[in-house]
Amino acid sequence: MNQSRISFESLVPGKPTKITLGNKEVCVARVGDEVFAVADTCTHSEASLSEGEISNFQIECWLHGAQFDLRTGEAVTPPATEPLEIFEVSRDGDSVTISEKA
Ligand code: FES
Repeated sequence: MNQSRISFESLVPGKPTKITLGNKEVCVARVGDEVFAVADTCTHSEASLSEGEISNFQIECWLHGAQFDLRTGEAVTPPATEPLEIFEVSRDGDSVTISEKA
């Protein structure tokens, strides 16, 4: 199973980070003390979500404004309708591990 590690302290709340997991690009987002990981590519038209904005557990695509729930991957605002793939996140102190869901 593919796994990637990132330092918790390097994650700035509200500023998503793009990482690579195997052959996938993943958007890692910190909200307060929680970390979420979703597919980086918007399901609407291939924009990179790590360049988007976060508010209230939602990430907004910078291109056409679709919003996704970081907790579930669900598309909550058009024009996107398909959910994002979400990834498993576990944290041990400063070490955050992102892995593909089994
Ligand atoms: S590419 Fe993300 S909303 Fe259109």
